Amino acid sequence: MKTRSVIRGVGAYLPSKVLSNDDLSKTIDTTDEWIKQRTGIARRHIAAPGELTSDLACAAARRAMQNAGVTAEDVDLVILATTTPDNTFPATATRVQAKLGIRSGAAFDIQAVCTGFVYALTQADNMIRLGQATCALVIGAEIYSRILDWEDRGTCVLFGDGAGAVVLRAETTNGVERDRGIISTKLGADGRFYDSLYVDGGPATTGTAGYVRMQGKEVFKHAVEHMSSLVLGLLKAEGLTTSDLDWLVPHQANIRIINKVGERLDLSDEKVIVSLEEHANTSAATIPLAMNQAMERQLFKPGDLIGLTAMGGGFTFGAALLRW
Ligand code: ACO
Repeated sequence: MKTRSVIRGVGAYLPSKVLSNDDLSKTIDTTDEWIKQRTGIARRHIAAPGELTSDLACAAARRAMQNAGVTAEDVDLVILATTTPDNTFPATATRVQAKLGIRSGAAFDIQAVCTGFVYALTQADNMIRLGQATCALVIGAEIYSRILDWEDRGTCVLFGDGAGAVVLRAETTNGVERDRGIISTKLGADGRFYDSLYVDGGPATTGTAGYVRMQGKEVFKHAVEHMSSLVLGLLKAEGLTTSDLDWLVPHQANIRIINKVGERLDLSDEKVIVSLEEHANTSAATIPLAMNQAMERQLFKPGDLIGLTAMGGGFTFGAALLRW
């Protein structure tokens, strides 16, 4: 008998205001064609004035809890992956915990930029396996519109606001090969690339939130390499190959990164979940947003093998293998 973390519910939330590529072309020197061709993005959602990361996180979490059939009393762990917290401290997860009426267990934020959701999922899975939690809310929520330089066409067209969440439950299994739940996870970081993708502010530097700065080509190259090699490594460790993979849910940054990762893993396009056209890069929120889209399309079937993979600022990178 062993304990596995099983995803029992998925939820997502996108703010109602939509900013299309054409809208952007009225304020900066860009076109719908350039953005779509280079990135696959058509539009992004923008949080309303006064709307906070904790609001987005709660909206996604409520839907995930409803889908999982759990209440606030059941949840004993809240991990929020975010780069855009409501305040420098406390952790936005504690505000989410209070707003949702959760009264037991730990609540904390994880900061791993676009890899944040995979880092948070890994942490929750580890705590569940150790018996330190039984029902975890793992959330990715971001309001990038507040840390973008809206005059920098090289970055502002790429990002959007949104949130996604999953409910992970501890389930006891008899250890047979095809048990559902998270099979394995792998995290990494390479801080030598800190300056390749960063925000030029912060409490200890400028005292302001700052704006996203990025060396696009450098990020692109490393994203393809890390996102594909991590999944290959996880499969190999389990004695599996890419042909065993039913679905890949990659971080949604750029369709060209996603296509190259798919090619390296020898996956047909239908097996790769893509939702970025609708919401752009929402950093830590993209993987649960993409999972939610797949759920709405009823793609995942019991027993399906699913890979999640991401890379973000730091650089950080991470992947997970799970059986639905
Ligand atoms: N509209 C029109 N033209 C633009 C825009 C824009 N929005 N942005 C840049 N350009 C111009 C440039 O100024 C440049 O013009 P020039 O040749 O006259 O100098 C030209 O387009 C080409 O620019 P490049 O930067 O070479 O374009 P590239 O093909 O590398 O595409 C992009 C840029 C889309 C940013 C690409 O490098 C990329 O996707 N990188 C990955 C970055 C990413 O996804 N970051 C997200 C965060 S990290 C993550 O999530 C993994």
